Amino acid sequence: MLRFLCLLILTTAFANRATFDNYQVHRVVPENQEQLNILKDLEDDPNGLSFWVGPSRIQKAVDIMIPPHMLPRFNDILASINLKSEVYIGNVQHLIDTERPKVRPTVDFGWTDYYTLDEIYAWLDFLNETYPGVVTPIVGGESYEGRQIHGVKVSHRAGNPSVVLEGGIHAREWISPATVTYILNKLLTSQDPVMQDLVQSFDYYVFPVVNPDGYVYTHTTDRMWRKTRSQGGNRCFGADANRNFDFHWLEIGASSSPCSDTYAGSAPFSEIETRVLSEYLTSIADQFDAYLTFHSYSQLLLFPYGHNNDNVSNYDELLALGQAAVSALANNNGTQYAVGNIYSTIYPTSGVSMDWVRGVFNTPYTYSWELRDKGNHGFLLPADQIIDTAEETLVSLIVILRHAKEKLGRN
Ligand SMILES: *[C@@H]1O[C@H](CO)[C@@H](O)[C@H](O)[C@H]1NC(C)=O
Ligand SMILES: *[C@@H]1O[C@H](CO)[C@@H](O)[C@H](O)[C@H]1NC(C)=O
Ligand SMILES: *[C@@H]1O[C@H](CO)[C@@H](O)[C@H](O)[C@H]1NC(C)=O
Ligand SMILES: [Zn+2]
Repeated sequence: MLRFLCLLILTTAFANRATFDNYQVHRVVPENQEQLNILKDLEDDPNGLSFWVGPSRIQKAVDIMIPPHMLPRFNDILASINLKSEVYIGNVQHLIDTERPKVRPTVDFGWTDYYTLDEIYAWLDFLNETYPGVVTPIVGGESYEGRQIHGVKVSHRAGNPSVVLEGGIHAREWISPATVTYILNKLLTSQDPVMQDLVQSFDYYVFPVVNPDGYVYTHTTDRMWRKTRSQGGNRCFGADANRNFDFHWLEIGASSSPCSDTYAGSAPFSEIETRVLSEYLTSIADQFDAYLTFHSYSQLLLFPYGHNNDNVSNYDELLALGQAAVSALANNNGTQYAVGNIYSTIYPTSGVSMDWVRGVFNTPYTYSWELRDKGNHGFLLPADQIIDTAEETLVSLIVILRHAKEKLGRN
C-alpha cells in the first residue's frame, strides 16, 4: 500500500503538452446529403479539426473541435453549404484546466481525480496483494509501445459464468477507465447484499485501459488523442482500435484514411492491441456470458449491431433489459440515457469490439455505455462527476447482471 501511495504522490509535470487555447467545439446538424458529404470529407482529412462526434446521417448532430486559426475557413465552409453551427464549448483549454482538482487529494485512490496508467496499474497490483485468492492479475497482451494491457480477474468460486468489463479503448474518454476501476472497487468492497450476490455469482475479467499507449499519450502530450499509437508509415499515427476488430471490418462507419479519427487500420486486427486482446478473449470465450464496454460521451446504452439494422436473436430481451437498466440509472441521479442497437441509436459502425464478441461468440449480454455527458464538456467531464457517473452506471449494470443471472439459470 505504501508503494502505491508513493506513486500517487508523484504526479507529474509534463513538457510539450498540446494546448487548446480558444479551440471551440461546434455542433452542426446536417440537413441534406450535400452537407453530410462535406462533413464526411472533412472528417477523412481533418487537417487540424477534430471530430468529437463524427458525421453519420442527416439530422444527426456532429461535434467538431476547431483551432482558432481555422475558424474563419471553417465558417466559410459552413456558409458555403448553408449550414449553421452552435458553439458548444467556447474554449477547450478552459475545460482542460478545470477538469481536474487543483490539488490532488493524496490520501487515497478515491475517484476524485483521473489517474494515470501507472497509477491505475499500481492500484491493480495493490488489489492483487490485498485480495489474495480472489483477485488474480491478467494480461491481455502488449501494446505497440510495449505496455501491458493489464487487468484483473475477480473470482470467489470455481465454475462461475463470467463477465468481461472493457474500458479505455478510446484514449481520450477518461471517464471510461475511471468508471471501470470504480466498479471494480465496488465488486471487492461493497457490503450491499445484491452486489455481494452478483460478486459470488459471476467471475469478472476487468480491463480498465485496453489502449494503454493512447491513454498515456492523452496524459503526456495530447489530451484529445483517441486512437492507438502505431506508426504504419502514414502521415498520421494510430488507428481507431474500436473500428479494427475482424467483424464486418471497414464496411460502414469507419474510415480508410489514416488521418481520420475513425481510421479502421490497414487490415482487421492490424493493431496489436486488438489482436492480442481478441486472442485473450478467444481463450476465455467459453466462460463469459456478458461483455460490457465503456465509452463517452452521449448518454447511450447500446447493443449490437452497428453494421446493419438487423435484429440480433434476443433483440427484444436486450432492448427491454436496456430500458430497465437506464430507468434505474435515471432514478439514481436524474441522468437520461437512450437505449438501442448501435446502428439506429448512435450511428452505423463496423469493427467494434462488442459486435465482434457478439458475432463470433454469440455472447448473449453485450452492451456499450456512452457515459456522461451530452456535449457540454464532452470528453472533458469534470473529475467531480466521476463518482456520480460511476455510481449511476453501476446501478444500471446491476440490473443487467441480475437479469443475466436469472436467465442463465446457474448458481
Ligand atoms: C500477486 O500477488 C501474489 C501474492 O498473493 C504475488 O506472488 C504476485 O507476484 C503478485 N503479482 C503481481 C503481478 O503483482
Ligand atoms: C426488430 O424487432 C422489433 C421489435 O420486435 C421490430 O419492431 C422491428 O421491426 C425489428 N426490426 C427488424 C429490422 O427486423
Ligand atoms: C447526483 O447525486 C448526488 C448525491 O448522490 C448529488 O450531490 C448530485 O447533485 C446529483 N447530481 C445530479 C446531476 O443530479
Ligand atoms: Zn469511445
